[in-house]
Amino acid sequence: MSELLTGIGQLVTNDPDRGGTLGTISDAALVIEKDRIAWVGRAVDAPAADTRTDAGGAAVMPGYVDSHTHLVFGGDRAAEFDARMTGQRYSAGGIRSTVSATRAATDDELRARLAGFATELHAQGTTTVEIKSGYGLSVADEERLVRLAAEVTSEVTLLGAHVVAPEFAGRADDYVDLVTGAMLDACAPHSRWIDVFCETGAFTVEQSRRVLEAGAARGLGVRVHANQLGAGGGVLLAVELGAASVDHCTVLSEDDVAALAASDTVCTLLPGVEFSTKQRYPDARRLIDAGVTVALASDCNPGSSFTSSMAFCIALAVREMGMTPEQAVWAATAGGAAALQRTDIGRIGPGARADVLQLRAPSVGYLAYRPGVPLVARVWKDGALVV
Ligand code: NIG
Ligand code: FE
Repeated sequence: MSELLTGIGQLVTNDPDRGGTLGTISDAALVIEKDRIAWVGRAVDAPAADTRTDAGGAAVMPGYVDSHTHLVFGGDRAAEFDARMTGQRYSAGGIRSTVSATRAATDDELRARLAGFATELHAQGTTTVEIKSGYGLSVADEERLVRLAAEVTSEVTLLGAHVVAPEFAGRADDYVDLVTGAMLDACAPHSRWIDVFCETGAFTVEQSRRVLEAGAARGLGVRVHANQLGAGGGVLLAVELGAASVDHCTVLSEDDVAALAASDTVCTLLPGVEFSTKQRYPDARRLIDAGVTVALASDCNPGSSFTSSMAFCIALAVREMGMTPEQAVWAATAGGAAALQRTDIGRIGPGARADVLQLRAPSVGYLAYRPGVPLVARVWKDGALVV
């Protein structure tokens, strides 16, 4: 079965050989065969297919790749958000209240919530999502969270080292022993990645190194939360360990930027966090000008960023972080794929997964130009229409 999608006013391929930031083709068409893209090009050159859909001149792009979320949790922290809007500062301490609510939730409650998020993501054009644990902080609870996350995505990250578990207060090194020992044993079979929150109030550079090296020794890829609330050694550690991505990067030194530019580590910016915590936005332009690969992700979680909208992140990146609309769209698709070290998503070309987003707009520039407006017309995931 093949499907021809034609009448595409602007097709974003993210193919560097086609030129420009997004490798766009105008008056374009594409062919989907089973779960893959079989052909892309000008509509006038399109081959025959079993079925034909007309995009009516709309823009079509790869589905969003949201490479950083924390979607397995109980409860919410709406009151904390309200307090921040009237002057309270964000602190990672709130994580512990979500830990209590998550431990109290049953598997079925967490599963139902995850199913709701999966629907919410598709409705907004996200076709790949990474999900971290980190609200369990015991061997049994972290195992539960990565196991449940693995039911909805293959991009599962063990973040047992989110903060020190309440039972280990004042004994952070003992908690790191647990994370690198029994917790890793229980969680590695369900996980692709290991992550750590390397920040004052969470884990030191040395503790973070222990966590990441233990994960890597078990075959997990490395990702890091760093430089969110202040300067620190997390970015340099991530680069040194060859992390796939270092995320947040709100506060960066010149050395951090130079190290990122000379590395293959993607810098994933999470503007929903700055929106929700009222911190200053990171300077994406400075990073891109230095040659750093930048991704955008939602960081969807109940504390620091409770949005799952990649379009909102794009609008913030353009309005507040110095990105062009094209750079922001690239970062939310191909950038996310790079952060997950995936070559089968984040692009539209022969052989890529047929994860496709048709907008209700003539160009992807509308994503920042019309913030908050539902611009998703159709979404294909693995070749099947899901919206
Ligand atoms: O990515 N920075 C650490 N962890 C999350 C926040 C979690 C929370 O506040 O619940 C983040 O922003
Ligand atoms: Fe996060």
